[in-house]
Amino acid sequence: MTKLNWNKNHCTSINLRLADAIKTFSSTYKYRSEVHIGGIPKIISNFWSAIEYSLVGGKRVRGLLVIAAAQAAREENLNKSLEAETDKDQQFFKLVIDAAAAIECTHAFSLVHDDMPCMDNDELRRGRPTCHIKFGQATALLVGDALQTLGVQILTSGEEIESKRFMLIKKLAMASGANGMAGGQAVDIGVVGQQINLSELEFMHSMKTGALLELAVEMGLIIGSNKNRNNINSLKLTSFGKLLGLAFQVVDDILDATGTEEYLGKKVGRDSDLQKPNFVQLMGIKRAQEYADKLLESALKSIEMIDASADPLRMLAENLTHRKN
Ligand code: IPE
Ligand code: IPE
Ligand code: MG
Ligand code: MG
Ligand code: MG
Repeated sequence: MTKLNWNKNHCTSINLRLADAIKTFSSTYKYRSEVHIGGIPKIISNFWSAIEYSLVGGKRVRGLLVIAAAQAAREENLNKSLEAETDKDQQFFKLVIDAAAAIECTHAFSLVHDDMPCMDNDELRRGRPTCHIKFGQATALLVGDALQTLGVQILTSGEEIESKRFMLIKKLAMASGANGMAGGQAVDIGVVGQQINLSELEFMHSMKTGALLELAVEMGLIIGSNKNRNNINSLKLTSFGKLLGLAFQVVDDILDATGTEEYLGKKVGRDSDLQKPNFVQLMGIKRAQEYADKLLESALKSIEMIDASADPLRMLAENLTHRKN
């Protein structure tokens, strides 16, 4: 089997797939002669520039999780089968990178909208002016819309393994919609200035951030699983994704209080400025970090029975819980 090399090259693969999608989809309008009038081509090309701008940078955590989970799920199946190396490998790799790129589009869309004046009103993201500062609010709103559908366009761009692609789109829609990220963001806005308890905060974080991280692991599971067998690790990996998703936002809350703008590439102290309930506000920095460490411990425990194929997932979980950006 051709192995996925587990290193930073994965970020490059995701970035290349995103660049390729932008190139492919941005060129389609050029073939429509009726839009070659006045300033319309320039408007469309500026819009694509704003989309591209919003996809640059970031840690690519969600994409990397898709890849790591797919690898863990697939090796389990391969160990138990004598499946020869076939062009299925090629399909597998294409699907993994498509899913990783798609989830990064959804995430970038959530950030563009999260930064807008009607939400967190932030001016710095990934070390650069936020989309609405650079391109204006109306464009930022539309960039979010376009990024959301760009992810689906990427996922529907391959003809192979269509049933898996369908499942990935279905899960992506659920995790980013009203019962996932968007719903969590609605709660985040709705509780500004209020005192909420631990379980309410956990609920909000699990939706607004946890849903997409959990989805990343689930996407990997779908891609790596073999429909002829029950993947015995699927429950463990799902639980791992949930715990890590919550830990990720707890650490984001801590970094908002303890991090630096230089490292984070975004302004700090925003949650307290905006009176957003978060883990630091609820329990203080020290207890919040202990809480994140406990979540990490439980996440690692949930996959302790999985062999070395899950090591990239373990490494990601450790790094994310003790990250500086
Ligand atoms: C920031 O996410 C917003 C949250 C959901 C906490 P990331 O910390 O993954 O942002 P990037 O993609 O690395 O910029
Ligand atoms: C953002 O949470 C969650 C989503 C974008 C869905 P935050 O508002 O805490 O993220 P940052 O701190 O601006 O990156
Ligand atoms: Mg926010
Ligand atoms: Mg924000
Ligand atoms: Mg934050």
